[in-house]
Amino acid sequence: MARITASLYMSHVPAIGAAIDEGLTDEPYWKPLFEGIQPARDWIAEHPPDVVILVYNDHGNAFSFDLIPTFAFGTGESFMPADEGWGPRPVPTVIGHPELAAHIAQSVILDEFDLTLVNKMPVDHGCTVPLSMMFGQPDAWPCQVIPLAVNVVQYPVPTGHRCLALGQAIRRAVDGFDDDLNVQIWGTGGMSHQLQGRRAGLINQPWDNEFFERMIDDPVDLARMPHVDYVREAGSEGIELVMWLIARGAMGDLAGGAAPTEAHRLYHVPASNTAVGQLILEEAS
Ligand code: DHB
Ligand code: FE
Repeated sequence: MARITASLYMSHVPAIGAAIDEGLTDEPYWKPLFEGIQPARDWIAEHPPDVVILVYNDHGNAFSFDLIPTFAFGTGESFMPADEGWGPRPVPTVIGHPELAAHIAQSVILDEFDLTLVNKMPVDHGCTVPLSMMFGQPDAWPCQVIPLAVNVVQYPVPTGHRCLALGQAIRRAVDGFDDDLNVQIWGTGGMSHQLQGRRAGLINQPWDNEFFERMIDDPVDLARMPHVDYVREAGSEGIELVMWLIARGAMGDLAGGAAPTEAHRLYHVPASNTAVGQLILEEAS
């Protein structure tokens, strides 16, 4: 049987990808960050997934304002790195898992979540930077990846409650897949960041830390937080954090099981203009 074994949460700052691509990870600016994520890389080397369901947002690369799916679920064979204006990142093509993705789509849509199915889309830094943070620069990504692009760019964006419930539905779907697969679900984006306007560069570390605590201990309560709180406290792009609730919803405690255990946590400032958060929650065994 397929099983969700862990949920991972992390920022997807494009400058982190550029630092990796350009060999700058030992520079004084970047070294502390890369030392900080090393325990996560060690952890995943010991807990290699077969498949990652990677929740992220597209930043106007696969979708423009012409077409704005709320939940775009990657059912295709493969997903090319997007050209974000400087050419595509020199990273491997993301290889999907069409059979598991089709199974999840069937289960989740009949569970009344109206996903948009996407067989062809490029994936931008939202998807590829977390892969680089965890796996470095391999010739091929060491697992299959099902991208789930969530609209957090154009309002109205989905509520925390809806995201948490979608995670729960994804867990039910994965549980019903017959092949023996180790599945992880990653929620990306955040933490504090505002990229433009008078509040550009806003970092609210106390709020980010409280977000970590509530994510771990009381995600049901956190899921009731309105969008305006994210934006006021964590900046306009801090709303990306709502996607973490999809990954959190897929953990067993929200299906009546035991609470997950924390395997790793990092909070680092700065990377570009933003705070970097990273968290690993392991399923209770
Ligand atoms: C930046 C872009 C992002 O999408 C993000 O989540 C964080 C930072 C940036 O351009 O710096
Ligand atoms: Fe982003």
